[in-house]
Amino acid sequence: MFSRLFGKRTKSSAEEKQRPQTATHTVEVKWDNWSPPGEKDAISPPIHQAATLTHSVRSPCPAINSLANHSILPHDGKDITKAMAVDALTKAFNVDPKIAAVFAASGIFANPHHDATTFDLNMVTKHNYIEHDASLSRDDAAFGSGEKFDQDAFNMVLKTYRDGHPGKSDEEIATDWVTAGHARWARVLASRKKHDVAEKTWIYGIKEAIMSYGETSLYLNLLGKDGVAPLKWVRIFFEQERLPYAEGWRPPVKFDQADLNHGYAEMMKGGEHGAEEAKLVGIGTLVGLKAAILSLGAGFIKAPSAHA
Ligand code: HEM
Repeated sequence: MFSRLFGKRTKSSAEEKQRPQTATHTVEVKWDNWSPPGEKDAISPPIHQAATLTHSVRSPCPAINSLANHSILPHDGKDITKAMAVDALTKAFNVDPKIAAVFAASGIFANPHHDATTFDLNMVTKHNYIEHDASLSRDDAAFGSGEKFDQDAFNMVLKTYRDGHPGKSDEEIATDWVTAGHARWARVLASRKKHDVAEKTWIYGIKEAIMSYGETSLYLNLLGKDGVAPLKWVRIFFEQERLPYAEGWRPPVKFDQADLNHGYAEMMKGGEHGAEEAKLVGIGTLVGLKAAILSLGAGFIKAPSAHA
């Protein structure tokens, strides 16, 4: 079960009044429509008043940030209801409605106001709720922003793909599950080392491992066919937070638990580090880690049990 903390909503009534249109935000999937946060975030002004530019917000998640940049979620990243998030994920990415509902609920539960029915994208940045150490494209919270894209962190992912295809340019490289799994593990090791050197506490247990596997399975199911996507598309998704529609990407025809599980299983086939990771997360054996990821991953990936 989720727990909700932190008392009541504190939005001013003036702020509430300014945003009636978000309640009726309808999902329009136009992939050509893209602009970075900050642009197009003016609220329609009441008559005789100047337009108010709101400060747009984003999250540590390249997928929901992209949906906001494409205006499939509100472009300013604010006041997202569960229905809006489910609509966006199901209509834009063909995510299975049950999974979409779990993801959307995890957004609402990230709102610190216990009776909230909406969330803002930056609310999911809360460290060790969903946001965790060893991200693919974000620095660890102890050192920088767990929220904002970090090129140095993501370069480790790119290096793994490039090292796996010597002599090839990024335009020529395609992803695969095994290399994606190695890239994920490279980030785990780098994150552990960075904390060790700085003598900071590093948190990487079974919950984080499940999320880590889950996030790699998510981006390759979104961008690729059975794990195969042009590396260029992966770069566009993480670096620009844009879906590479103009470059030829089309949404997956289906995106469900079986697809996510397939990704975990394929990554594990290339996981010579698996036994080490099993010990690291306190599961002990590789068999145990595999079982935990395949069985728990189903409902756990974006639905941590509690947030403090
Ligand atoms: C309402 C829905 C969603 C919420 C609230 C959400 C939230 C988050 C959060 C908080 C993170 C940060 C985890 C970390 O520390 O690395 C994250 C990462 C990620 N999410 Fe989402 N997410 C949602 C939906 C999705 C979907 C539908 C996809 C893909 C189709 C996706 C793909 C990813 C990926 C690939 C990462 C890893 C980023 C990285 O490691 O740098 N997410 N998500």
